[in-house]
Amino acid sequence: MTPHGDASRFAPSSRLRKVLLVAAEYRGLAKVGGLADVAADLSATLVRKGLDVLVVLPGYPAIPVDSPPLAVLNVPFAGRVFQAALHRTQAGPFVLRNDEFFSRFDSVYVDSSQRGRGPFEDDAQRFAFFCRALSVACESVPLFDGIDVLHCHDWHTGPLVALARLSGTSLKLARSGILLTIHNLDYQGIRPIHGDAHDSYPSFLSWYPDVGPAMLAHPAAKVLYDPRYPHCYNPLRAAIRLSDRVNTVSPTYAREITRSDDPARSFSGGRGLESDLATLSAAGYLSGILNGLDYDAHDPLALDPPFGPDLPAWQTARRQHKAALWHSLSIAEPGIPLPPLDQFLARPLAVSVGRLARQKVSLLLEPVSSADAPGPTVLAELARRDISFLLLGAGELLSPIARAFDDHSRPGLGLLPRFDSALAARLYAAADLFVMPSDFEPCGLSQLISMRFGALPVASAVGGLLDTVTPDRTGFLFRTGTRAESASAFLAALDQALALWRTRPADWKAMQVEAMRARFSWDGAADRYLELYAQTVASRG
Ligand code: GLC
Repeated sequence: MTPHGDASRFAPSSRLRKVLLVAAEYRGLAKVGGLADVAADLSATLVRKGLDVLVVLPGYPAIPVDSPPLAVLNVPFAGRVFQAALHRTQAGPFVLRNDEFFSRFDSVYVDSSQRGRGPFEDDAQRFAFFCRALSVACESVPLFDGIDVLHCHDWHTGPLVALARLSGTSLKLARSGILLTIHNLDYQGIRPIHGDAHDSYPSFLSWYPDVGPAMLAHPAAKVLYDPRYPHCYNPLRAAIRLSDRVNTVSPTYAREITRSDDPARSFSGGRGLESDLATLSAAGYLSGILNGLDYDAHDPLALDPPFGPDLPAWQTARRQHKAALWHSLSIAEPGIPLPPLDQFLARPLAVSVGRLARQKVSLLLEPVSSADAPGPTVLAELARRDISFLLLGAGELLSPIARAFDDHSRPGLGLLPRFDSALAARLYAAADLFVMPSDFEPCGLSQLISMRFGALPVASAVGGLLDTVTPDRTGFLFRTGTRAESASAFLAALDQALALWRTRPADWKAMQVEAMRARFSWDGAADRYLELYAQTVASRG
């Protein structure tokens, strides 16, 4: 991507001109979660601000490339030399394609346990290869000359940081500042350092037999090891320790990850990396920058009928969206039990949209404790309330969630077990409430979208949710504690919201207006990233 914005923002003497942004996802090419939105929106905003931003991701087979490769690289890996082809996509980002590691799988991530293999066995290898290929490209392809900042995202890019800093083979990248952005500490890509002779590429040393021994002999090599599993390589930990600056995607999550996990209170902190993160934080090297939302891509004025806080009849328009949702579900989703239209309109509609990951929705399956005996689950309690609840999503908890919906089946309670962005947009436009009971949430995007559309979030007071939802003004927050405490606190917040909806419509409307007007802009976030980039450059001297 070439800058076409206000290049004068960067003084000619400034060393900050060219950034290499590396991520496993990019919206429009490969998307599993919010990482894809951040990679796309942040890079586009930085380009508008005049920066030269090269984005590189793996060449998953679903990404179309219709032109010949810009370069074909010889990549030393696992004792052999593999080829990787560098292509530019029409969307702008570059991809590195290789049949062996990427084209064989039709998804962005591979769940190795489903293939009878160990945790991260496939992905750790695929991304170790991708990073090695990119390190070769940075040395040999002129396009990558003069990178001022290497901006890496999550554990998938960790091997690139380690190669740049410890291998002695990345002479050009060694001069770049490095920023690591952590989107989710739940995934770290841990693998053994030494492999098992019977398997093909299971460990750090089996991927990098040529440079691995020198990296392990480097004075800083201890950062390659996981602090809890001393025989294991932790690419995220290595990236945290070897980057010049580290940030995460909200100020609150940046504080939370400096503390230890507390399973009894279902608190997710540093996930074993808290002491590294606390050290960085104390030195001023760890910060939190809230993600933005692309308000043009999520615009209720673009809907039919349009609505927004400045249009007079916006409540009528939202009601029309609610009725249209009822009609389309009754035709397209015969499996979803619906009440008659008048009842559907008269009741609050709560929705939830997103990955059915433990982090996001496990609270719904939690029993609400009553005295000594565990009571019914949160979902069962929710099903007893006079509301509709529609959940759209897929992921690891799909089966237990589907069973819970079956157990409490009644009109107005429906699970839509898939990713479907068109349906998601209709749910945001029609809903009164957006349910987001995350155990932890580095930033969260859905609450920003739901506020934009006037669906008020009922969310846990953690991470980016705490930083973006203003209690009793733009949504409802509940405190987390033990599982049982979180379960009751969620239901109490839901009841508070339902009572407001029923008894104080003017206050409800005022909250919706405030939520629709709330802004979390990429423009401001990108300025913060520019400051961090400048710090990483300065730290290289
Ligand atoms: C991860 C986090 C989410 C965040 C997103 C983008 O998916 O779980 O909270 O919004 O990354 O940073």
